[in-house]
Amino acid sequence: MAGLFITFEGPEGSGKSTQVELLRRWFGKAVVVREPGGTALGERIRDLVLHDRAMSPAAEMYLFMAARAELLAEQICPALRAGESVIADRYHDSTLAYQGGGRGLETSWPTFFPKPDRTYLLALPPEISLRRLSDADRIEREPLEFHQAVAKAYERLAAAEPKRWMVLDATASPEAIHEIVRSDLAGFLKRSQPSSS
Ligand code: TYD
Repeated sequence: MAGLFITFEGPEGSGKSTQVELLRRWFGKAVVVREPGGTALGERIRDLVLHDRAMSPAAEMYLFMAARAELLAEQICPALRAGESVIADRYHDSTLAYQGGGRGLETSWPTFFPKPDRTYLLALPPEISLRRLSDADRIEREPLEFHQAVAKAYERLAAAEPKRWMVLDATASPEAIHEIVRSDLAGFLKRSQPSSS
């Protein structure tokens, strides 16, 4: 299986990391990245943006995007160019949902950020996801209304690009979700490969 770019999105506590790990095992060989972070600069930005004191919404957005630009340059783009698959735990849709939907900023998709082939939204009502949090960071500590706006933004993003997104019920078991992801990817690969007949 070669060269797919797959992203997982959703709120805190929706089980993204578990799905990323299950999928990595299924792929055997894939580059796995987590945002924000994954590079030396990205880890410094992660620390600033998640653990520092308040900052302006726009500064927050550009910090997330700067970390992403570095991750693309160092890891995602070289891997995709080499024909490897990349599985990302959050990507630019997080910025559109959190800084766009949550903070109300105007957002856009930079042309040099590649679009994922498939994006899985692990949908979970904010009331449940906030209950699952143990050690909340600066963004997770935002009020319920913020997280409701993020959830709505994710719904809108998924509805606007149904070919790229698949919405999954994050209250289902990790194994059941993984099954759906696997069979969806198998179908996706079949559709994207030219038929031999
Ligand atoms: P993290 O600890 O990685 O949480 P999670 O397990 O939920 O991914 O924290 C990432 C936090 O940063 C999370 O609250 C979402 C937020 N975030 C943004 O607001 N914008 C972004 O562009 C990204 C990548 C994350």
